[in-house]
Amino acid sequence: MAELLNGQRRSLMCGEVSVKHIGTRLTLMGWVHRRRDLGGLIFLQLRDRSGIMQIVFDSDVCNEALLDKASALKLEYVISVTGKVRRRVGDNVNPDMKTGEVELAAEELKILSEADTTPFSIGDDGANEALRLKYRYLDLRRDKLQKNLVTRSKICRITRDYLADNGFIEIETPMLGKSTPEGARDYLVPSRIRRGSFYALPQSPQLYKQLLMIGGMDRYFQIAKCFRDEDLRANRQPEFTQIDLEMSFVDREEEVMTLTEGLLVKMFAEIRGVKLPEHFLRLPWKECMDRFGSDKPDLRFGMEIQNLDETVRNSAFPVFASALEQGGTVRAIVLEQGADNLSRKELDRLTEFVKTYKAKGLLWYGLGKDGVKCSFAKAVSEEELRAIGAKLGLKQGDIALIIAGADWQTAAVALGALRCHLAAKFEMYKKGDFASLWVVDFPLFEYSEEEGRFVAMHHPFTSPKNEDLQYMKTDPARVRAKAYDVVINGDEMGGGSMRIYNRDVQKLMFETLGFSDEQIADRFGFFVDAFRYGTPPHGGLALGLDRLVMVLTDTNNIKDVIAFPKMQNASDMMSDAPSEVEDKQLKELGIKCEVTDD
Ligand code: AMO
Repeated sequence: MAELLNGQRRSLMCGEVSVKHIGTRLTLMGWVHRRRDLGGLIFLQLRDRSGIMQIVFDSDVCNEALLDKASALKLEYVISVTGKVRRRVGDNVNPDMKTGEVELAAEELKILSEADTTPFSIGDDGANEALRLKYRYLDLRRDKLQKNLVTRSKICRITRDYLADNGFIEIETPMLGKSTPEGARDYLVPSRIRRGSFYALPQSPQLYKQLLMIGGMDRYFQIAKCFRDEDLRANRQPEFTQIDLEMSFVDREEEVMTLTEGLLVKMFAEIRGVKLPEHFLRLPWKECMDRFGSDKPDLRFGMEIQNLDETVRNSAFPVFASALEQGGTVRAIVLEQGADNLSRKELDRLTEFVKTYKAKGLLWYGLGKDGVKCSFAKAVSEEELRAIGAKLGLKQGDIALIIAGADWQTAAVALGALRCHLAAKFEMYKKGDFASLWVVDFPLFEYSEEEGRFVAMHHPFTSPKNEDLQYMKTDPARVRAKAYDVVINGDEMGGGSMRIYNRDVQKLMFETLGFSDEQIADRFGFFVDAFRYGTPPHGGLALGLDRLVMVLTDTNNIKDVIAFPKMQNASDMMSDAPSEVEDKQLKELGIKCEVTDD
């Protein structure tokens, strides 16, 4: 039978008890984490968010009724225990535990809530993910998740303090709004009052924050929920959080970048005791693609992509020749001391791996202990092979992995992915290494084969570089953006830009994107109108809060940093959302549901 708290309060949290409390009478409350009944001597581990404390029911101290009550306790019962703190002796001392030198000799016990047997053991990390997500509230009792959410909360606090110190004010923007063109699919919410119309949940507060600048708010931030109906990955959720900010009277990328560096430096110092550089490396997008095959390069390790175009320019080997003839490229990475570590089978696997990145194939040339190991040795002269080795600086034991392709970006991206794959496989970095940089000078547009037109690489409100404005009409592919992404350990932590604040430039932008005047008026009319009434130069950025917490807690699963995350198929295992709704609800909305497969 559960007992009442009746005004009783705990003296401390479990993890706070230490040798300085020896001899003190304390009341602790929490969940029964483990129990060991030795008959006349019962050991419990009592758990709360702060940690675990050992409780002892000892027949020297407890009467029989108390011992009986304690021996009826089961795992995950919620209890309150009062007793004296004493020093653990002999084998009982546990140096691995924060409270390992002390225990509480129980004198009183209250059972506040009983618990059924849980579907998986709380202390066990092995249970399958679907089961954990179904009982997320139990999974949340796990030490790791509790620590991650505490860290998340600290990051938010540091952010609020830092931004407030820098003149930013926190403003909420609507959840029910108009669809904003961020590139992903919207989550739609039907309107009851205006039947047949829909709100969109924000993909980001982009338009609103710019309107706040026009509204004279000067510096805004928000820890903002965003919604994007896109395919999920290990670092993506349909519902995620941004640290979103915008500032007025700036026109240089550096101003937002410097401010953001200050925040990240503070965060890493306070959360991890790590000193990030005050000024991160800045790398132009094209250089990132050339050297690392990625617009979010992982700089914790080397293995940069090298260009073999000139070395194999006159090669008779058809794979090289045809790539170059088509205006393509031949590029390579070198895995140092990899020649004898990559078996033929493994090389075949790597070939399949690069094919998933649209490369046609993978070639290799290694200097193993049994001699040259080369997939194209018969097709080239010894001299050419030596020239390739010399250009790549290939040493005894190394292996070069080569991709020839008609399109430089495809070849680079495939090698970039291979580079990261090999670095992870051969452990070229360790936990606690952090490499941060800014990727700058992005193209303003990218060509979408699917849509047959240019689309904005970031979003349509990003300002072109002043000096590239002249190419907007004639050569859009050449125009660079005043945009920047911040990357840590190969993951995009955030991105932003200086915005267009001139109506003519905004119009030119929309035209280049192929929007008709009608489409502009319909989709962004309210926004474009606002620019007529005095718009300060402004710029900003959004950091992915979930991803920052991931990096700072050393996890590569975004679900580990969100209290109630969604599954791969965007459903919530626990509540079973999304679910069908009652006919009455649909009727109120004036909606008839017909589910189609296409
Ligand atoms: P962007 O689309 O680059 O920019 O988003 C900013 C950051 O948000 C994080 N992020 C995500 N995190 C988890 N799950 C997702 N599905 C997801 N999508 C994005 C990333 C990303 O870098 N309005 C602009 C910002 C601006 O220009 O100021 C924007 O939303 O870490």
